[in-house]
Formats: sequence, structure tokens, C-alpha cells
Amino acid sequence: MQEKEMLRIERLTKIYPGGVLANYEVSFSVNQGEIHALVGGNGAGKSTLMKCLFGIEEITSGQIFLEGKEVCFSSSQDAIDHGIGMVQQNMMLVPSFTVAENLVLGMEPHKGIFIDKKKCIEDTEKISQRYNLKVDAKKRVRDISVGMKQKLEILKAMYRNAKVIILDEPTAVLAPQETEVLFQQLRKLRENGFTIIFISHKLGEVKALCDRLTVLKGGRAVGTYNVADVTEKDISRAMIGQDIAVSYEKNVGNLGEVLLRVDNLRYKDYFGAQKLKNVSFSLKTGEILGIAGIEGNGQLEILNILTGNLKADRGRVFFRGKDITGRKIRYIRDCGIAHVPEDRAYNGSAMDMSLRDNFIAPALKKFVGFMGLLNRKKIDSYCNKCVAEYQIVSHSLNAPIKSLSGGNVQKCIVAREFTNDAECIVLNQPTRGVDIGAMKFIHNKILEMRSLRKSMLLLSSDLSELQSLSDRIIVIYEGTIVGVIENVAETSEEELGLYMLGLRKDSDDKLMNI
Ligand SMILES: Nc1ncnc2c1ncn2[C@@H]1O[C@H](COP(=O)(O)OP(=O)(O)OP(=O)(O)O)[C@@H](O)[C@H]1O
Ligand SMILES: [Mg+2]
Repeated sequence: MQEKEMLRIERLTKIYPGGVLANYEVSFSVNQGEIHALVGGNGAGKSTLMKCLFGIEEITSGQIFLEGKEVCFSSSQDAIDHGIGMVQQNMMLVPSFTVAENLVLGMEPHKGIFIDKKKCIEDTEKISQRYNLKVDAKKRVRDISVGMKQKLEILKAMYRNAKVIILDEPTAVLAPQETEVLFQQLRKLRENGFTIIFISHKLGEVKALCDRLTVLKGGRAVGTYNVADVTEKDISRAMIGQDIAVSYEKNVGNLGEVLLRVDNLRYKDYFGAQKLKNVSFSLKTGEILGIAGIEGNGQLEILNILTGNLKADRGRVFFRGKDITGRKIRYIRDCGIAHVPEDRAYNGSAMDMSLRDNFIAPALKKFVGFMGLLNRKKIDSYCNKCVAEYQIVSHSLNAPIKSLSGGNVQKCIVAREFTNDAECIVLNQPTRGVDIGAMKFIHNKILEMRSLRKSMLLLSSDLSELQSLSDRIIVIYEGTIVGVIENVAETSEEELGLYMLGLRKDSDDKLMNI
């Protein structure tokens, strides 16, 4: 079959105000009905390129051709009118609106002068069925899972008649099972002739899903390849310029005393669902305790209670023997519990504030000098050290953190939380959205912290990450700890999966002594 070119980008250059060169003379093309991957390290320019294509960012020079015709979009509405849809790295839904309201936003069906609410819901249900992307039309977006938010974003594009759908790291926020569902749906869309551009740091996903891929490096396109012709190693070499070894040096550490103890935590959510049922466990000094579980089984609630973001209905939390149950976030932080939250854009950072302010915000006291003034020199030397050590790509400490690429924001938060002398670090998806090099770096940092006798609670949807780092893994299912794996090296993803799906449970005796 003759391939039909859907989209061509020709020598596209994007320089941000302030002089950041994000894309330089990038050229590549995407065929109709293919899933085309865009890969590259953090800050390589993937999101920028796609924002240019979607009319959110103005291109500095270069051309875009859609079905052979040159186009120039002045806004995302313009791009949408031409059949392009984009699901951005930070989703753009309105949390207080319902699914149906978000779907039709800006093009609401009317009955006279009023919005036809019934038709909104009908339209949502119809399109959801047609593309087999199931969503609850009447639920508010703030109450639905990330997986459903993503489906809604895709449906939004379909509702606006998109022919080309851009997905910027759609799987970063998904559990492995949800990723598989998303892939099935994307394959179906491909069969129906849709063209998909897929951004991901997970090369296994690129191999499993995509037809071709284009590699960006330092804002330039390095090359376009048939996925079948290259290995994951080839791709990472093209991205980074060197091989990345993925093994870790993990020394055998002796676990110390109990540092953190959680006793009989119970929690019922706003809707009356019992999210936690008598959860008890201990974290020892120098230990990495992994938590495995399918999203929504209570793991997030545990972390939120520990870090003061949520109040338990019953139960106690002890840190170094001291009762810290129900204490505020600041108090818990000052006790020595750091937190890398799951959602870097909303909880982890203040997106409009500068890189510098984000670095120092949780530990301002450390930087107060003579006469109670902030010691600017000390601040800058601390920030510069973090930027250098964590290889954060940014042009200035004054830049608002939202001008950093997604992976670089993640690196900032990790750098900040790892450098504030906490005894215990609560890590939720610590490597979400970072490239393979940065992932390895963060993994080694976690192990380095462990050799410094720090304790970590690690939540990750990446089972191989959990397995390679944790000393023990507890598995949570429907608000109860159903398994504890002491010999982590010998477990398998299949075994973990059995616990995660509620098909296996350890004896009560064993579960009493975690
Ligand atoms: N609004 C902005 N203002 C200034 N510079 C920006 C802005 N947005 C992005 N940049 C810079 O442009 C470069 C490319 O960023 P981009 O977000 O496109 O990277 P990316 O490949 O998507 O990375 P990641 O994998 O981390 O998401 C980075 O150096 C980033 O700091
Ligand atoms: Mg990006």
C-alpha cells in the first residue's frame, strides 16, 4: 500500500522569548494511519514541537504541511479546526465541570439560548460508545481516575473531528493495566485511519505500539526509523549518544530500628468508600519499603495521611516513637519527613514561581542570615548545586518553573526533597516523566540515600522499579495489606500481580508483623 503523507514538518525552529532554543531546523513527516513516536531526553524539545504543531506556541521559522497544504496556526482553535487534537502533558480539563461539560466545552449544543444539557450527555455517551472509550458522562472531572481523564481528553479531540491526535506522555500517569487498555484503543483508532503522534520515555511502549519513530536530541531531529528495524538500545543510543546500563549497585544494608510506624489506619472517603481498613506497617532505618497496588486501592491515602495531606478516621502514626497523627504538613516536614508527591504540577511545585523560589520554599529557615534577611548568596549556591548535580536543563534560576520541560520539573522536586536533610522520604512515582538517563540517576540517588541510612517509602506503578530498589514490598488491595514480600529479588511481576488483583493473600500471622 502506498503511504499517504498526513503531516510534514519542514525545518521548524522555535526560540522562546528570552532566547531559549527549543527546536532547531526540525524536519520529519508522519503518514496517515500510523502511530508515530517522538522520543528524546528531558528538554529535547518534544512538547515544544507539538505545541507549535497545535498552535499553542508560535513557530520562529519553518513550515508545517497538512495533507500537502501549508498551514500556519495562530491558535489551538485554529489547529483544532484543521483536524489536529492534542492531549497535553499536564491535562487541561476543568475539574469542577462534569465529564460531559468538559467534552463539549466551547462548542456546547444549544436549545434556544440555553445549553442543552441533555444533549451534552447524549453526545458524550454516543461518542464514548463509538470509539469504545468508556467515561462517566455525569461525574465531575475531579472525581474520576487519571485513566478516565485521559480517555476524556482523547474523546474531546474526536468530538472536534481530529484526524491527527497528539499524545504527550499519556502513559506516564497510567498503571500498567490501564496502559494496555489505552494501547488497544489507540490501535483501534489506527485501524480506523487516525494518525497518532505518541510521546513516551518508555521505549518498550514505543516498540510495542508504534510504527515509526523520530528521535529528538538537543532540539534537533536526529533521524526517523521504522520501529521494527531498531532495538531499544539503538533508540537510547540515538537519544543520549551512549549506552545506558540499567543495573544498580545495591549494597546489603542492615536494617535498623523502626523509624516510622503506622498503626491500624482507617479512612473513609467523601463518598463513604472505606479506602483504608486497619493498615499497619513499620519502616526501618535504612530501609526502602515498596508499596505495590493497582491505583485506587488506598496507597495514595496512606501517603497522604503520613505527610499530613489527609486526616485518618482512626489509627496512629509514630515517627521516631513520637505520635504525629493528624499533624499539619509543615510540622511533619520539620520532623524530618520529605515528600515527592505524585502530581508535580499541582502539589509538588508552584508553577508560576521561579526555580529558585521552588527550591527554597519548604526550607526557608535554612537560608535566613544576618538580621533575619534571606542570604541570597547561600540560596544561589544551593540552587546552582542542585541544578548541576541533577543536570536540570534550565536557562536561569529566575525562570518560572513552568517554563521547564516536564521531566526537568520532576528532577527539581526530587533534588529539593533529597537535599533537605530528612530522615525519611516518601516517594510517589519518583521517576515519572524523566528520561532513561535521569531515571538511572534518580535510582542511584535513592540507593545512595539508603546507604546514608535514610528510610524511604516508595510507591511506583513501575514494578521493575519497585523490585530493583525495595528491601521489602507490601502489596495493598482494597484498603488492606494482602502481602509482604521479604525476598524481593526472588519475586516476579506475575507474583506481585496475583496479590495486586486480590487473588493471593498472605497468612494473618505474617501480615500482623510487617
Ligand atoms: N514557556 C517556555 N519558556 C522558555 N523556555 C521554555 C518554555 N517551555 C519550554 N522551554 C524550554 O524549551 C526546552 C524544550 O522543552 P520541552 O518541554 O519541549 O522538552 P521535552 O522534550 O518535552 O522534555 P520532557 O521529556 O522533560 O517533557 C527546554 O529547555 C525548556 O526549558
Ligand atoms: Mg515534554
